[in-house]
Amino acid sequence: ENESTVSITVVGASGDLAKKKIFPALFALYYEGFLPKHFTVYGYARSKMTDAELRNMVSKTLTCRIDKRENCGEKMEEFLKRCFYHSGQYDTQENFADLDKKLKEREAGRASNRLFYLSIPPNIFIDAVRCASLSASSGNGWTRVIVEKPFGRDSESSAALTKALKQYLGEHQIFRIDHYLGKELVENLSVLRFSNLIFEPLWSRQYIRNVQLIFSEDFGTEGRGGYFDNYGIIRDIMQNHLLQILALFAMETPVSLDAEDIRNEKVKVLRSMRPLQLEDVVVGQYKSHTKGGISYPAYTDDKTVPKDSLTPTFAAAALFIDNARWDGVPFLMKAGKALHNKSAEIRVQFRHVPGNLYNRNFGTDLDRATNELVIRVQPDEAIYLKINNKVPGLGMRLDRSNLNLHYAARYSKEIPDAYERLLLDAIEGERRLFIRSDELDAAWALFTPLLKELEEKKIIPEYYPYGSRGPVGAHYLAARYKVRWGDVG
Ligand code: BG6
Repeated sequence: ENESTVSITVVGASGDLAKKKIFPALFALYYEGFLPKHFTVYGYARSKMTDAELRNMVSKTLTCRIDKRENCGEKMEEFLKRCFYHSGQYDTQENFADLDKKLKEREAGRASNRLFYLSIPPNIFIDAVRCASLSASSGNGWTRVIVEKPFGRDSESSAALTKALKQYLGEHQIFRIDHYLGKELVENLSVLRFSNLIFEPLWSRQYIRNVQLIFSEDFGTEGRGGYFDNYGIIRDIMQNHLLQILALFAMETPVSLDAEDIRNEKVKVLRSMRPLQLEDVVVGQYKSHTKGGISYPAYTDDKTVPKDSLTPTFAAAALFIDNARWDGVPFLMKAGKALHNKSAEIRVQFRHVPGNLYNRNFGTDLDRATNELVIRVQPDEAIYLKINNKVPGLGMRLDRSNLNLHYAARYSKEIPDAYERLLLDAIEGERRLFIRSDELDAAWALFTPLLKELEEKKIIPEYYPYGSRGPVGAHYLAARYKVRWGDVG
């Protein structure tokens, strides 16, 4: 085992994702000693580049963020020496065959394991998979391919993509990334639920009034308009990141922590969900706004976006799980770009205390008196529970306070990036945090009819100013289910 090799080929090495996430994550893994003894990293892209030029490019993306230890510079040098470049087309088998030769040389007769990270646009996915699998698969070890969304635009195109992938790869070789699953607090969801006595018994319609999944970014689609306009926020964030969190949140207890057991439960809960209706959704798009003398662009000011685009940059939705545990509990999602802050969180609002002796201390707004559990996925990771307590003193006034697990205060260690976790799992063959094809199908089944209707009926988004809290429609939608967004205060 010690003598086997792992090579990681980043296909699309000069792209944004590779530079921002993949190379830095690989270095962080190397730094922490998680990469196997014999590993190589290959950058694969179309442009001509030497190994030295690739190393130079990669070196600019690496940081010594991990506790700023002194030998970081040295480690970088070592890491860069293991990085190489191969120039080739994405649809040309011979180019992958040439890569195969180089990989073989480096493997020097040892058992060979090969991981391909496809960091390329979807229209060349299949060609690259075909070429890599036919011409550069391992002969005597494993071959795995990491793919990242978009996995199609709807049920049909996603199914076609899966079918095409499966011509060349077995499901066990396909690692579909949803990077939200690699985030520390998302991974912790299952620990929170299943290793604490006090939460799981409350985790149902009996005690939970509603669940909110909120994603917001304080910047627009700057520079990514071309990609984004074809997808919109529902496909970009809701159908994957927020829905995955929802599945982990709402699934039944898996038989074990085994990847198949967990994913079986996720699929079940996804399949128990009601397909979204148009009336349960609000869409928005940001418009320009001037604040403090600075003017922020409208979505349609982006040169790569058609002037008359109706693509939503914001959406809010009410979803329902029609099973015994969650019958009637609204799961509200909200996702948007160009809003007032950057954050991702889960909010769980509990029911009223029956026959509460202290109701009169809360005035007329009893909703404010219920417990709320907040899981702040990012930034400034935290889990806190809002409880009621008496204000100390001789009177009887009630207050709301937080029982707070604040990660920065509790742990001095920096939290690893999601891509570190996921790359490590892919190398180790751990599939728990990757999306199985039936999960993907279920996720699309939920959203496809709605997406089609939005597009066919050319639903006009509600415009909201850049940097605002988004369309007021989101409040009306929540109010219809007697819900108040927890992030609004
Ligand atoms: C990506 C989306 O999947 O997630 C982007 O395509 C979004 O639009 C990004 O900005 C958010 O990820 P993170 O980890 O920065 O919250």
